[in-house]
Amino acid sequence: MLISCVLTIRDLDLHNKRVFIRVDFNVPLQKNPSGEMEITSDKRIRASLPTIKYALEHGAGVILASHLGRPKGKPNPEMSLRPAAARLEELLGRPVKMAPDCVGPAVEAMKPAPGEVLLLENLRYHPEEEKNDPGFAKRLAALCDVYVNDAFGSAHRAHASTEGMIRFVPKAAAGLLMEQELKYLGMATRNPARPCVAILGGAKVSDKIEVIENLGKIVDKLLIGGAMAYTFLKAQGQPTGKSLVEDDKLDLAKKLLADLGGKLMLPSDHIVVSEIAPGAPNDAVASIPNGKIGVDIGPKTIDAYARVIAGAKTVIWNGPMGIFEKPPFDRGTVALAKAVAGSGATSVVGGGDSEKAIKAAGVSDKISHISTGGGASLEFLAGIQLPGVAALEKS
Ligand code: 3PG
Repeated sequence: MLISCVLTIRDLDLHNKRVFIRVDFNVPLQKNPSGEMEITSDKRIRASLPTIKYALEHGAGVILASHLGRPKGKPNPEMSLRPAAARLEELLGRPVKMAPDCVGPAVEAMKPAPGEVLLLENLRYHPEEEKNDPGFAKRLAALCDVYVNDAFGSAHRAHASTEGMIRFVPKAAAGLLMEQELKYLGMATRNPARPCVAILGGAKVSDKIEVIENLGKIVDKLLIGGAMAYTFLKAQGQPTGKSLVEDDKLDLAKKLLADLGGKLMLPSDHIVVSEIAPGAPNDAVASIPNGKIGVDIGPKTIDAYARVIAGAKTVIWNGPMGIFEKPPFDRGTVALAKAVAGSGATSVVGGGDSEKAIKAAGVSDKISHISTGGGASLEFLAGIQLPGVAALEKS
């Protein structure tokens, strides 16, 4: 899945061509007091700007396509891409036409001339998109001369716009965001500068089994935090009080501990509370007492993990170290974010909560790459081939 196997938009002749760019504009929305849907983070739209600008500067007419939410195969005005068109227009400083649908005669009549931008309506208004229906894929392909996939966040989905239509277009390539994602995630997992350290957190071991197994083969150290640490600790026979533990995953945790040996580091102390509530009294303890709940890694663990991170040349991070959305239980996560930023290592952070933690620590600009993909980056780290990338390789 190395980027060297995939053409990029830079390899294409775009002059006077109609380029279909699959973007991931699956942005968070909320209803404002007047009942209109508003974008609460335009990060994914911003992340696609380099590719869109590149296509326009090289003489293409640009058709953008994305899904938004999960409208279950039928139109839903609350999941329209219209707010994204308005936001993109502001960011690009040029008009963005909004299509009433993603296929059909009305859309065909709106095909953009060179220098124009057309955003198609939500692909998932049609059930054929998620079914990867060949007829639907052909109709999308018929809109363009060249296809570019810049939707890394959706590359783990084998849908018509991410996988199927590539068979029906004359040329297909990765966009600049896709290229960036594959470059950093590929470098961190295939050819990392060593020592290579992974930090894995989050609530459940079960969400990250494949990631732990795959990264275990690659990295030099695996630092575990978040509630998933309590399942490992219980598997070692240590007390976990009332902390979140996946009892049905204890055997698996034992096996991972045995397989990974000294590579896997677990917290040596914990912040515990009697109840998870704002301002609840909290203590740092080496061993979790009966009735207490672990909510963050403790200061000794922060020191130990920060020392490992300081010596790293590559850091891969996915998942928080505690209930970081409820300060002060964000201390461990924020401290590690600062340690990663100060390490000088090439750092690759998976989307979602880890990204929020990096922002909260005010160190986003010191991280080499923050992925725009949640599920997609997890599957990449698990060593699973992403169908959207595999289709580009085949083409
Ligand atoms: C994401 O937000 O992870 C992607 O846009 C994919 O969305 P999905 O999980 O609804 O397929």
